[in-house]
Amino acid sequence: MKILVTYFSQTGNTKKVAEAIFDTLHSTEKEIADIDAAKDPGAYELIFVGFPVHSNSVPKKADSFLRSIPAGKKVAIFATHGSIRNGALAKTAFETAHTLPKGKVLGTFGCRGKVAQSVIDALMKTTEHKPWAEEATSANTHPDEADLKDAKAWADQMLVKARA
Ligand SMILES: Cc1cc2nc3c(=O)[nH]c(=O)nc-3n(C[C@H](O)[C@H](O)[C@H](O)COP(=O)(O)O)c2cc1C
Repeated sequence: MKILVTYFSQTGNTKKVAEAIFDTLHSTEKEIADIDAAKDPGAYELIFVGFPVHSNSVPKKADSFLRSIPAGKKVAIFATHGSIRNGALAKTAFETAHTLPKGKVLGTFGCRGKVAQSVIDALMKTTEHKPWAEEATSANTHPDEADLKDAKAWADQMLVKARA
């Protein structure tokens, strides 16, 4: 099965999760690429797409890539976010991402990712960002080893689902 793991990552958190996912996949036909360098999604059967949650949603680059995935492909979506894991604040982004590809979404995974204190300080002043920025003050050790372990277990499940 041809697999692509692609990610958008500004500060390295999502990239770290993408690399953990890539490492765990038992397939000889796997590729990992930054979203800017990713080839035509039509060339793969299973596509993992990762992004950081921005403004409670999916950043433009990931949005465009997800929309370019054709029908018939299997898709697994992961994201990092400063807000609490499985929390209400990250939920909208996963729900939005789910609706974008024409292919079949097999599942989603999220974990926290640290945010620079300077960014938190600036965004905390806006009503749009304050709720997640407050939660993000306790994300500074993430993604950690436990997050990467969970990401790998999730990716393994996605592969089993894709092969079924
Ligand atoms: C402009 C901006 C907006 C963000 N918006 C959110 C948000 O709405 N919710 C959230 O939980 N985290 C938000 N974050 C935090 C990032 O999602 C988090 O730090 C992520 O792990 C960054 O991933 P990266 O290192 O791969 O870029 C935002 C960060 C930035 C810089």
